Amino acid sequence: MSVRRLHAEQPESFAFSKDSEKLVKFWLGKYPKGREASAVIPLLWIAQKQEGWVSEPAIRHVADRLGMPHIRVLEVATFYTQFNLAPAGEHLIQVCGTTPCWLRGAGELKKVCESRIGPKGQVSADGKFSWVEVECLGACANAPMVQISNRHGDDYYEDLTAESLNAILDVLARGETPAPGPQSDRKTSEPAGEAVTLTDKSLYDGSRAKPVKLPHAASPAAEAAPVKKARPSAKKAPAKKGGGE
Ligand code: FES
Repeated sequence: MSVRRLHAEQPESFAFSKDSEKLVKFWLGKYPKGREASAVIPLLWIAQKQEGWVSEPAIRHVADRLGMPHIRVLEVATFYTQFNLAPAGEHLIQVCGTTPCWLRGAGELKKVCESRIGPKGQVSADGKFSWVEVECLGACANAPMVQISNRHGDDYYEDLTAESLNAILDVLARGETPAPGPQSDRKTSEPAGEAVTLTDKSLYDGSRAKPVKLPHAASPAAEAAPVKKARPSAKKAPAKKGGGE
């Protein structure tokens, strides 16, 4: 895991907006008095949704609000990679670069981001986009994929190609919301291509099995040797009468 530091440039202050305050109150209401610190992750998340990232003043504000030492909230914010410690674009594109996505073309998706947005972590000139590479997001069956986060939510876009990612960025740039989920013609993570059905008898009747040559078999005849019948068990000795030895 890489070292995560606060951004070099920080705003003067932070305050929750009116809408964010409603969410803060909701989350604080979930925990008993004296346990307000339990709401640290939701409050940091609300701050991030409001600003697009978690600044140092936001960390202090959340800590003060929850009666926690600043260092404790800093630890949480720097531990979880889901918290952005640097300004992000209105839409943050998180490209999964872990093996299944990589093998299915994540490299092409990164090239699209580089050419349209700029280097990793940099906000585009119009402030609309930034992108980062992340580890597996748990949608490997629909690789390659990206998560796109903005004020309205965090959506997965799956079964991507360079072309479909470009189309999604076009829609976002127009201020519209592209439909999330697989960008191919399959539903969720159903098998791609021909349907596989478990009612196919050949899955169970052995007809698909390939003959196996056992390494110790002397000859094909030996392999096919019939199983010997079990020897009849020895007759039981008649039980002795009386208990004397
Ligand atoms: S490897 Fe990309 S979602 Fe799992």
